[in-house]
Amino acid sequence: MHTLEKTNDYALMLEQIKALIADERDTLANMANIASFVYHSVSDLNWVGFYLLKESDLVLGPFNGLPACTRIKMGKGVCGTSAQTRTVLNVPDVHLFEGHIACDSASNSELVVPVLINNQIYGVFDVDSPLHNRFDPELETFLIDVVKCFVTKKMD
Ligand code: SME
Repeated sequence: MHTLEKTNDYALMLEQIKALIADERDTLANMANIASFVYHSVSDLNWVGFYLLKESDLVLGPFNGLPACTRIKMGKGVCGTSAQTRTVLNVPDVHLFEGHIACDSASNSELVVPVLINNQIYGVFDVDSPLHNRFDPELETFLIDVVKCFVTKKMD
């Protein structure tokens, strides 16, 4: 899979992601392909990736986009808040989010999905857009489903 078209067919994209990770057991490889797939398949995104909980920090994992901050404390920024509260955070304007950590100045909206394995925080899946209010309910549901796919595969 080398050329990806941007569509809004989230059901198809989810099937493509499942196929992409189906035969690989390595978690890092699967996270890398998921980040790349979402980055290249969904329009108007400038950063897609994982932060992984290591000791008490979220540490940068596989991603697509510009180089980003490597460590985020639990409870800090959108990522740390999502991890600490174990909730999906959909931030229509990151400049209005108290404590937002600006890694790429192009980002204007952000969605963070916590990744829970066996009821423990494993990390977060972080997606940024240069548009305000990019994450409509359909896209939010898709990104939550992407994380579900990853978690299901990892628990196999
Ligand atoms: N904006 C995030 C930091 C990570 S970057 O967006 C890649 C935050 O506030 O946690």
